[in-house]
Amino acid sequence: MNLEGRIAVVTGGSRGIGKAICLALAEKGATVLVNYVSRPDAAEETVSSIKESGGNAAAYQFNVADAGQVQAAIKNIVDDYGKIDILINNAGITRDGLIAMMKENAWDDVLDTNLKGAFNCIKAVSRPMMKKRYGRIVSITSVIGFTGNAGQANYAAAKAGMTGLTRSVARELASRNVTVNGVAPGYIDTDMTRGLPEEVTEKIKAEIPMNSLGTVDDVAAAVLYLVSDEARYVTGQFIHVNGGMFMG
Ligand SMILES: NC(=O)c1ccc[n+]([C@@H]2O[C@H](COP(=O)([O-])OP(=O)(O)OC[C@H]3O[C@@H](n4cnc5c(N)ncnc54)[C@H](OP(=O)(O)O)[C@@H]3O)[C@@H](O)[C@H]2O)c1
Repeated sequence: MNLEGRIAVVTGGSRGIGKAICLALAEKGATVLVNYVSRPDAAEETVSSIKESGGNAAAYQFNVADAGQVQAAIKNIVDDYGKIDILINNAGITRDGLIAMMKENAWDDVLDTNLKGAFNCIKAVSRPMMKKRYGRIVSITSVIGFTGNAGQANYAAAKAGMTGLTRSVARELASRNVTVNGVAPGYIDTDMTRGLPEEVTEKIKAEIPMNSLGTVDDVAAAVLYLVSDEARYVTGQFIHVNGGMFMG
C-alpha cells in the first residue's frame, strides 16, 4: 500500500488509537496532521516519532466540538498543503454514569465531542474533497454504538449517531469519489480502558470470544484498508475489530 502524496488529518491523533493510526498512515507515506486538544506534549511526541522514522507530520491544536475552530484549522491545512485526502474522525471521550444519575453536561460533552465533532470535521473537509474528486473519511465508532452498554447511554447514543452520519454522508459523497466508512473497535488497551477497575476488565475479557483486549494496531490495520486504493468501492460500511464480541 502506498499513501505517498496523501494528506491525512487524524483527530485525537496524540494518544491511543489515534496515535497508532497516525504512525500507520505515515509508515505508508502519508503526510499526517496530528490533531489534539489538551496535550501538546503527546501530540509532539507522535510527530517526533513519525519524523524520526523519515515521515512527514505536524501537530494541529483544535477542539473538534467547536465548529469555528474546526473550520479555521481545516482552512489552514488546505492553505498549507493544498488539499486533504484523508480524514480520520477518532477524537472521543467518555463520561459514564447510569441514566438516572447522568448529568446534562455529561450527555452534552460526549455528544458534542464524539458526534458533533465528527459532523464538524466531515462538513469542513467535504468541499475540499469534492473539489479534488477524491477523499477517504473513516470514523472510529464503537461496539457500544451497536450493542448499547449500561452506564454509557451518552457514549452509545453518540457512537450510534455516527453510524447514521457515516451512511448518510457516504450516499451524498459517493459520486465525487469520496468514501465514508467506520471502524468499530471492541475493548482496546488504551488510556480510556486502562481507567477501568481490574475486575471490570476481567469481566469484559470473559465476554470476548478471543479472551483478550485488542491492540491499537488492530484498529489501525482496519483503517489502513479503508483508506487504501484497494477499498475504492467500499463506502458506508463498518469494520468490527472486537475479538468476536459482537458480530454485526
Ligand atoms: N479504547 C477503546 O477500547 C475504544 C473502543 C471503542 C472505540 N474507541 C474510540 O476510539 C477513539 C480513540 O479512543 P482512545 O481509547 O485512543 O482514547 P484516548 O487514549 O483517551 O485518546 C483520546 C484522544 O482524543 C483527543 N481528544 C479528546 N477530546 C478532543 C476534542 N474535543 N478535540 C480534539 N481532540 C480530542 C485526545 O487529545 P489530547 O491528547 O489533547 O487530550 C486524545 O488524542 C475514541 O473515539 C473512542 O471512543 C475506543
